[in-house]
Amino acid sequence: MEKYLDLRNKKEYKGIEEAGQKIKAGGLVLFPTETVYGLGANGLNSEAVEKIYSAKGRKSDNPLILHISNLEMLSKIAQGITKVEQKLIQAFFPGPFTIILKRTDIVPDVVTAGLETVGIRMPSGEIARRLIEEAGVPIAAPSANISGKPSGTNVQDIYEELKDKVDIIIDGGETEVGLESTVVQVIDEIPHILRPGKITAEQIKEVVGNVEIDKHILNKTEKDQKILSPGMKYRHYAPNSKCLLVYSKEKDKLVNKIKEIANTYDNPLIISKSDNIENFSEFKTIDMGNTLEDISKNIFTVLRKVDKEKPSIVIIEGVSRDGIGLAIMNRLIRACEYNYIEV
Ligand code: TXA
Ligand code: MG
Repeated sequence: MEKYLDLRNKKEYKGIEEAGQKIKAGGLVLFPTETVYGLGANGLNSEAVEKIYSAKGRKSDNPLILHISNLEMLSKIAQGITKVEQKLIQAFFPGPFTIILKRTDIVPDVVTAGLETVGIRMPSGEIARRLIEEAGVPIAAPSANISGKPSGTNVQDIYEELKDKVDIIIDGGETEVGLESTVVQVIDEIPHILRPGKITAEQIKEVVGNVEIDKHILNKTEKDQKILSPGMKYRHYAPNSKCLLVYSKEKDKLVNKIKEIANTYDNPLIISKSDNIENFSEFKTIDMGNTLEDISKNIFTVLRKVDKEKPSIVIIEGVSRDGIGLAIMNRLIRACEYNYIEV
């Protein structure tokens, strides 16, 4: 790293111009968006984009999202936009929403992993928006984390794993949402949610009248199964310790089941809602917050804390799938490598 830019609590955004130039020139910049931190490079420069894959240790068949700051950029990288797609763009840009569109020829193959489509997002975070504006090109950026680890929602969590791999780090404090964007692809005029996020199925349905939730969101992909979003087949967000996700609609049942399982282990760790934590006072616990919004913000940092405790098992309290709850459960089920029980 050449430079650390501290923009926490700052309003004048000094230094973003230099970071934008760095991107344009082919460098790597770690920067905040409203969802999670991104590891950004010039999205039209293959060599620069290659650096992202090697920094993350990311498989080359997993495509990247291009981040734009205005609709003029969109028209250069996407074509044949349909009415339904147009409506979604109008409703959810800028924001925590990625749409998969037919790409143009200027989008390098490394960005899309050879696909004819490209994921495009216009972040609403002010630092991200200004950075793209200064770079003057779409920024290719995956979540900032080594592949397989939880995404970074603050610089502290990812500093050690990425500091030697990037040119500039922009610190914007904690990200607002805490979970990555909703990824949507429109197929035969129906929007399919490939990855759930803050923009929910209900919101999408309100705009275009219908929506499909891809079944891989909460289910394992079988070997050789064709899936729309390559990222969904990889081990993700998972601590090294064995994890189990437990959910019940009834609070008493949930608490009792977690206790029952915890009692069969020597050194269990329980991740629970603040409201339930006193029920687990005889065990080691981590508090994940109470509301779905708080849990979204905290969950990746919480998952990063797990291994430090060296538990024999991590039992995680599941949440309802309402609203952003579906996105939380999607990340937790993956963190637990599909070890999930509902009682
Ligand atoms: O909130 C976010 O989306 C963050 C911030 C930095 O913008 N970015 C992010 O990127 O989460 P990444 O690379 O970690 O996840 C992108 C997901 C992957 O699951 C990938 O497979 C999928 O989007 N994706 C990207 N391009 C695609 C395409 N053309 N077709 C299908 N899926 C695509
Ligand atoms: Mg990621």
